[in-house]
Amino acid sequence: MPPEKEVAIEMVNISKVYPDGVLALDKVSLTIYKGEIHGILGENGAGKTTLMRILYGNIKPTGGKIKVFGKEVSFGSSKDAIKIGIGMVHQHPSLVPVFTALENIYLGLPSNFKEQVSLKELIERTGIKVPLEERIEDVSLGIAQKVEILKVLYRGAEILILDEPTTNMTVEEVKEFFSTLRNLKKMGKTIIFISHKLKEVLDITDNITVLRRGKVSGSLPTSQATPEELAKLMVGREVFLKLEKQGSRPGEKILRVEDLWVKRNDGSWAVKGVSFEVRYGEIFGIAGVEGNGQSELIEAITGLRRAERGKVFFKGENVTNAHPLKLYTMGLAHIPEDRQKTGLILDMSVAENSILGIHRKRDFLRPMMIFNENKIKEHVERLIQQYEIVVSKINAPARSLSGGNQQKVVVGREFSKTPDLIIASQPTRGLDVGATEYIRSLLLKMRNNGKAVLLMSSDIDEVMGLSDRVAVIYEGEFMGISETSSVSEKEIGMMMGGYKMGEIGIK
Ligand SMILES: Nc1ncnc2c1ncn2[C@@H]1O[C@H](COP(=O)(O)OP(=O)(O)O)[C@@H](O)[C@H]1O
Ligand SMILES: [Mg+2]
Repeated sequence: MPPEKEVAIEMVNISKVYPDGVLALDKVSLTIYKGEIHGILGENGAGKTTLMRILYGNIKPTGGKIKVFGKEVSFGSSKDAIKIGIGMVHQHPSLVPVFTALENIYLGLPSNFKEQVSLKELIERTGIKVPLEERIEDVSLGIAQKVEILKVLYRGAEILILDEPTTNMTVEEVKEFFSTLRNLKKMGKTIIFISHKLKEVLDITDNITVLRRGKVSGSLPTSQATPEELAKLMVGREVFLKLEKQGSRPGEKILRVEDLWVKRNDGSWAVKGVSFEVRYGEIFGIAGVEGNGQSELIEAITGLRRAERGKVFFKGENVTNAHPLKLYTMGLAHIPEDRQKTGLILDMSVAENSILGIHRKRDFLRPMMIFNENKIKEHVERLIQQYEIVVSKINAPARSLSGGNQQKVVVGREFSKTPDLIIASQPTRGLDVGATEYIRSLLLKMRNNGKAVLLMSSDIDEVMGLSDRVAVIYEGEFMGISETSSVSEKEIGMMMGGYKMGEIGIK
């Protein structure tokens, strides 16, 4: 018999009705054991943050009971939670940008604070290394996240709530972050890991509670969980993580890139002599660890960044350094990787954003170039319905939408241009399972209808799952181009790490 596991947290029948009447949690119960990493999985809006803010004493539940290490608690504020050893790192970093890491860690300590371990010792024990003297505004989001965790641990947290901690981390940062979490677990800390990413939850947790629309839809040990089962619990229906893909019937070339060279903003070379072509009826994928030139490559092809050398041909026409609007009128659409900078104008309304780039279409204009409000309204309402965009009203600023809904506005708008070639950069980053599946199926449908897709993604599963052919970019060069069916995930991984295809024995 294994020893009885000690219960760290018990939440029983927790409900929450927000003042505006939203029922965010409906009798949620869960048990978390000491020393485990417990995953809280759910789509956007499922109630994850609400549940954890209640546990942290940030907001009060409408009903229900909370026990911490066997004792019933009722928190007046998060100060009470911190006192008994609960710490929370919020979804959006709450550090002061102009202060150093060290200043941030010390900031707001109560005057009677007694440290249990010195900061130095804590850093040694946990292995969480951060540049203490650097200002938060000068460090990456991954490092800022670590500073927050240190800050919470320094205050004596035994139970650590992490709300979507990996949102802004690169693949490498996530790997490192997970080894930190495993360290903390070894030290006996209890960790609550909130996420909507199946893979991460499967990778790092011991037990999982799945929330859907404010209710627990399932709870199970991670060892018994499969991605399919978890996706179903999250979304409430069968989700096809592996898309049905018929064989491709590639046609003529639509895009040809010849020996392209592109610089970064700082003048260094981001892309060093890349050549490839994309044909009608295929999805051509570009894989690679972020920061290896793929963003600059896409920007150069779509007219957002100068190509210094080389040529781009679209439908046989030389369009090197052409204006984006010209490319669009020729049948190219672009889902940019950064929806907040390039994809949307955040202060403009959802309706206005929905016609960006197509606003000159005759449909949306009346004589004298006056906007036809009714036509725009019809258009945006169709997008909202088709893409299930959650928005209070069509005149709400794009800024007020959640990240997932912002992305759907961009995707919907670009698809509504009925392009012959769509260039999709990180099209599903930050999206939940349902929206991800939908967008992937749209890309496949385009390809099945004989159109072309150029897909850039740092998600290996996405590139491998969708692409007919795949190229891997490393430090501005292609390590190889291959039919996806004749290359393994491992080989792609090695190329992402800088091995050329010839060096790892693929023909
Ligand atoms: N402060 C708030 N006031 C009103 N409704 C809220 C508030 N915070 C969250 N909600 C609503 O409660 C539900 C759950 O949200 P949340 O807990 O943030 O979900 P998750 O973290 O799983 O994305 C959503 O419908 C959300 O719109
Ligand atoms: Mg949340």
